Amino acid sequence: MEVVIVSDAAAVGEVSADAISALVQRKPDAVLGLATGSSPSELYRELARRVATDELSLAQCRGFLLDEYVGLPADHPQRYRTVIETEVVTPTDLRSERVQGPDGLAADLPGACADYERSIQDAGGIDLQILGVGSDGHIAFNEPGSSLGARTRIKTLTDQTRRDNARYFGDDIGSVPHHCLTQGIGTILQARHLVLLASGRAKAEALHQVVEGPVTAMWPGSALQLHPHVTAIVDEAAASRLQ
Ligand code: F6R
Repeated sequence: MEVVIVSDAAAVGEVSADAISALVQRKPDAVLGLATGSSPSELYRELARRVATDELSLAQCRGFLLDEYVGLPADHPQRYRTVIETEVVTPTDLRSERVQGPDGLAADLPGACADYERSIQDAGGIDLQILGVGSDGHIAFNEPGSSLGARTRIKTLTDQTRRDNARYFGDDIGSVPHHCLTQGIGTILQARHLVLLASGRAKAEALHQVVEGPVTAMWPGSALQLHPHVTAIVDEAAASRLQ
């Protein structure tokens, strides 16, 4: 795993945008894996800036979400499909109809997960997958104890992750859904390039375990060590526990 340590979250955004720009220059119809949460915020801001200044176009790209809450109404601002629409589609030229996520409102949730896996395969697989990491080491919503070979499926969120995400729900943990659909670690490991973003001291222990700890389902992100092409782009605070 290549670890790039930069000064702060803004620099994490710039360096990761460079990785996407280089890919899209090589392959204008690249398939991008999109994470939500605070880790990619600066990246998405920088992509928007580059598109606005004609340095970059995502018009031919496709996007696949990592995960989605189960049961949030289509117009809920925290539904991940809506978040990506707001943070990536609207401010760039990535086209809404070229972005897909697992359908957290499907009547048949296991069927929606299988459909999603097929859609990723039909698109030729993900070229570059953006990832964040939870303070407990989760990747997408693969919480500690998740199978390292799993595909897209329904998962129950841990109390820790629901507490972490309550900030997006007016600090009301009761409003945070209990279930989600998430790409499995097995799905994620099939992307051709994994780009892990982390900033802030709250991620330091997780980053240490993911990068330097043993590969274990108790720190699901540690499975990234099994992938041949991973770039972790992290700020100094997140890197503060690395040896
Ligand atoms: C989001 C996702 C999560 C986050 C993780 C870190 O799509 O899959 O795994 O990447 O919870 O969240 P932030 O970036 O908000 O610290």
